[in-house]
Amino acid sequence: MTDQGSGKKRGFAFVTFEDHDSVDKIVIQKYHAGNRHNCELTMARLLQARRLEGTEHNPWVEYVNLANEYKDAVNLGQGFPNFPPPDFALEAFQQAVSGDHMLNQYTSAFGHPPLTKVLASFFGKLLGQELDPLTNVLVTVGAYGALFTAFQALVDEGDEVIIIEPFFDCYEPMTHMAGGHPVFVSLRPSPSQDHQDLDSCSNWQLDATELASKFTPRTKALVLNTPNNPLGKVFCKAELELVASLCQQHDVLCISDEVYQWLIYDTHQHVSIASLPGMWERTLTIGSAGKTFSVTGWKVGWVLGPDNIMKHLRTVHQNSVYHCPTQAQVAVAQCFEREQLLFGQPSSYFVQLPQAMQRCRNHMIHSLQSVGFKPVASQGGYFLTVDISNFKSKMPDLPGAAHEPYDRCFVKWMIKNKGLVAIPVSFFYSGPHQKDFDHYIRFCFVKEEATLRAMDEKLQKWKAKLKL
Ligand SMILES: Cc1ncc(COP(=O)(O)O)c(C=O)c1O
Repeated sequence: MTDQGSGKKRGFAFVTFEDHDSVDKIVIQKYHAGNRHNCELTMARLLQARRLEGTEHNPWVEYVNLANEYKDAVNLGQGFPNFPPPDFALEAFQQAVSGDHMLNQYTSAFGHPPLTKVLASFFGKLLGQELDPLTNVLVTVGAYGALFTAFQALVDEGDEVIIIEPFFDCYEPMTHMAGGHPVFVSLRPSPSQDHQDLDSCSNWQLDATELASKFTPRTKALVLNTPNNPLGKVFCKAELELVASLCQQHDVLCISDEVYQWLIYDTHQHVSIASLPGMWERTLTIGSAGKTFSVTGWKVGWVLGPDNIMKHLRTVHQNSVYHCPTQAQVAVAQCFEREQLLFGQPSSYFVQLPQAMQRCRNHMIHSLQSVGFKPVASQGGYFLTVDISNFKSKMPDLPGAAHEPYDRCFVKWMIKNKGLVAIPVSFFYSGPHQKDFDHYIRFCFVKEEATLRAMDEKLQKWKAKLKL
């Protein structure tokens, strides 16, 4: 926005960019004396950097807008808790904001020292490594920042990056923006057993031969996400060993996104791939305070890895965001110090949170089943993937169904007509595979009791109509 004012009357100009092929059109909307005038400029050169090609369209926007538009809808779409964070986290943040005034200033670029120190000692034990807070830990602006820094630091023009589908959607554009080529391999559900009441995401597996076939001399990295978003699959040790042996055989890096590692249900266990023999040397382990302490807005994340890889991430970080807000880092450090003291004890948040979220997951499973949906029980994380194929026959014809993946039409219809917001699972697949997996939708169950009850009500009303 430029101030165009002169004299007593001041005006403003808003600059917007319009779609184009090779020449850009910049529309300057001048606001002067309350009137809007459009001035169109053309630019001989491409306005946006080529690295953005193919990444401009973000499918989430439409659904987030729809969720906002239908105010009465129960929002089970985006992944954030709507219950309060634990008191100890809020108190730590309040103290950080109201205490030492120097905490309003810059801190070390690669992480506030108390935070890098506690992350090093806490995760060092879990990974079986002696971690140096200065060289093996980098604090980032959320796990998003960690991923972006890793892709920018390691993926080069023409490099291939193996991404396991369904995948957290930013991996694909981050690969493109770094100049790399994503290579996709799908987790495939084994045919569900009729006698099984509840499908499980443990039935979604990688085919070892197919996975091996994706490695080429150009493969630079493989992205692993366990527990997985959206499926909630927690990769078991044998699956991780397969990935690890292929990475070692082909000399490939592993970017392991483990943001949901404290949200593990039933008897499942989270294993960090970096803890497997020969993997620390080639793995970056990514975490998120947002998911760990139910404070997604704080945007504190981290990467752990060997110095010879981390030094390249530090270069990117130093020259881009520089560091993440000091006070948020102080608060996260205190949260980890607490958890370190209480590790494994009943009062630990890492014990209490998964217990509470398992109840939310079970609540949602029963509620959805009672209407005829087929949830795929998650083993970890924030989400439940639900098979909607047996609903197709009960549904009216949906506009756009022939061209759009079915789940997208279904979700739009469900938001507008049933007041329930979910996310189409085809978003978590590469273009060519979207139609193959367009009969699943994703619900977030990390919600307070009242939200889950509001969901029950909507579902029961829907059920009553289905009977007519
Ligand atoms: C798998 C996965 N990785 C990373 C992130 C980003 O985490 P943060 O909010 O810490 O940036 C998310 C957020 O939804 C996620 O689901």
